[in-house]
Amino acid sequence: MGFKGTDILNGYQFTNQQLNEIMNTAARYEKRVKEGEVIRDMEGMVVASLFFEPSTRTRLSFEAAINRTGAKCISMADANSSSTAKGETLLDTIKTVDGYVDVIVMRHPQKGSAAQAATVAVHPIINGGDGAGQHPTQALLDIYTMRKEKGHIGGQTVTFLGDLKHGRTVHSLGYFMQQLGNKLIFASPEALRMPEEITGELRAKGADITETDDVREALAKSDFVYVTRVQRERFENPADYEKCKGSYIVNKELLKAAKPGITILHPLPRVDEIATDVDDYEGAAYFRQAHNGMYLRMALLGLVTGRA
Ligand code: NCD
Repeated sequence: MGFKGTDILNGYQFTNQQLNEIMNTAARYEKRVKEGEVIRDMEGMVVASLFFEPSTRTRLSFEAAINRTGAKCISMADANSSSTAKGETLLDTIKTVDGYVDVIVMRHPQKGSAAQAATVAVHPIINGGDGAGQHPTQALLDIYTMRKEKGHIGGQTVTFLGDLKHGRTVHSLGYFMQQLGNKLIFASPEALRMPEEITGELRAKGADITETDDVREALAKSDFVYVTRVQRERFENPADYEKCKGSYIVNKELLKAAKPGITILHPLPRVDEIATDVDDYEGAAYFRQAHNGMYLRMALLGLVTGRA
């Protein structure tokens, strides 16, 4: 359906039909990998993985996905070992690497950086997180996980709990959840509320949004709770981080107040916002979510290169 050449930049660029196609493609890759197939869809292609910020899951699941689709990977996992350390601009780096590869996956601390990169690159840019901006591939794997956990997604209630101000994953997922017809509850400390720019846009699209600091009441109504850590590295003033840290913790006690069958998601890494005693809770899906990321990223690579 014409994904070839598409940049993946944000949480509002796809139609529901396209979301469906991405999910179905991921499911096909999951099946093929689990059946032990050696996949060669992207044989002959090279993908760059450029990470100017720390990452475990996004980088490694993309690099695993690159290898498992039959492509080869060139990787920059530490900006200090590249010409960025000599003062090269991001756009000069992108123009250079664009000449070596067929797709560029990138993470960068500057909001809007991936969209900027896309203006100079001939090949597709996949945004693996742009500062406090967007993180669409995470949001897509979140949807894939929600579908797998509950059998469908749509007409449900999703609580977003945590640092909604700085968390790029919730910025992307918020749009997708509205688009798929879910009710949104934003639960956060006052200082970490979802930016008005985003709630305004969501409301203009007709979103049903409740903003609250009452986590118990939110969980009692929710089919999903999506927890995020306080994004320490995004605070301008460390004292403000100290005031917010530890202000919400999901533990077994709190889950007694939750709707039965609630699914708990977290993009990870976690700090202390989900107690480890929750890990064996039936609805605790965050490690399954991390595993799903590889199949979803195989699908994105296959689709943007027209090889899926
Ligand atoms: C998230 C990120 O980098 O935005 N992690 C991830 O990609 N799984 C969430 C976070 O860092 O808190």
